[in-house]
Amino acid sequence: MKLSERIHYVGVNDDEKSLFEGLWPLPSGVSYNSYLAVDEKIALIDTVEHGFEDEFIAAIAESIGDRNIDYLVVNHMEPDHSSLITYIMERYPDLQIVANAKTLPMLKGYYAVPEEKVLIVGENDEVSLGSCSLRFHMIPMVHWPETMVTWLEEEKTLFSGDAFGTFGCVDEEVVDNDGTFEEYRDEMIRYYSNIVGKYGNPVQTALKKLSGLDIRRVCSTHGPVWENNISKVVSLYEKLSRYEVERGVCIVYGSMYGNTAAAADALAMELEARGIPYAIHDLAGNNSGELGVSGALRDVFKYDTVAVGSPTYNNGIYPPVETFMKALSSRLIRNRRFYAFGSYTWSGASVRQLNELAASMNFEVLGEGMSFPQAYTREKCDMAAVAELLR
Ligand code: FEO
Repeated sequence: MKLSERIHYVGVNDDEKSLFEGLWPLPSGVSYNSYLAVDEKIALIDTVEHGFEDEFIAAIAESIGDRNIDYLVVNHMEPDHSSLITYIMERYPDLQIVANAKTLPMLKGYYAVPEEKVLIVGENDEVSLGSCSLRFHMIPMVHWPETMVTWLEEEKTLFSGDAFGTFGCVDEEVVDNDGTFEEYRDEMIRYYSNIVGKYGNPVQTALKKLSGLDIRRVCSTHGPVWENNISKVVSLYEKLSRYEVERGVCIVYGSMYGNTAAAADALAMELEARGIPYAIHDLAGNNSGELGVSGALRDVFKYDTVAVGSPTYNNGIYPPVETFMKALSSRLIRNRRFYAFGSYTWSGASVRQLNELAASMNFEVLGEGMSFPQAYTREKCDMAAVAELLR
């Protein structure tokens, strides 16, 4: 579909895949966005994931008929955007790939692209399409080291790669309306926290670099095209990349026989009674909510306090909770308060170990936590006092 006379959307929706990167649940699917810049010359900006060859080539044909594609701009090499490079090269054998020096070895390694097919560009370099030009800005680590964005000044349009992307398919309009930001906000935070959350500083660097552009349209690789909510989307990225949060508690727990779960539920009730915002995530096996660690990470990026519950298991932390703690640690999250709780049968170790992990992440550990023997009871676990501590 046409976003303007010169910019056409040729992306696809994937509502079949259940896990993005084999890890992150997709209850509403995901889109792989690709765009055509159509002028005297034509540039295709990124491709889509394999499996969508027919739909992709049909969208391109509908857009440009039998005209040739002159350039394929590779903003980002993750295979959700690059895996049809070979397919496109076979159909448009004369096209030149436009990429930067860090992309080149990846093009060779993934798709055996010959070096002579690649036009290497650097910061601020331009490629003319005739009446308009593409300009390139490097934004390393948003999301991989080779990542760049493409700016089309004449359309005030930023092809932003993964930046400003979100989980969730796009509707037929593709372009956002006034309500789109709120509709996608949670999934955008989940996408950011799951995929880009480790790279707060590079995101900050990228935002500073792009702040001088008069952006009127953001064409990300995932989710809606942003025209009407750009300031909200950029503000959200500012906030997330600074690890800024709201007052509230993200309760995350795993439980084998329901005792740590009962403590988590009791804490949630006490928070509710005090009007303290909270979210609660059960990570254990069959009890796991549909979003699991993915949803828990999202809410750690929303709230300033993390309360983690784990029974003692093999003299350590219950494995699903340990996985969550590792995911927290790898995201270099700052400025969080932390509270640990959990049951044990003959020797408590999980709460102490959780606190040690939290301290190693420079979280503010609130007291010793609550390690209680065997069954949960209100007498053993004063969750009202815990809620006051977390207030
Ligand atoms: Fe959507 Fe980092 O790829």
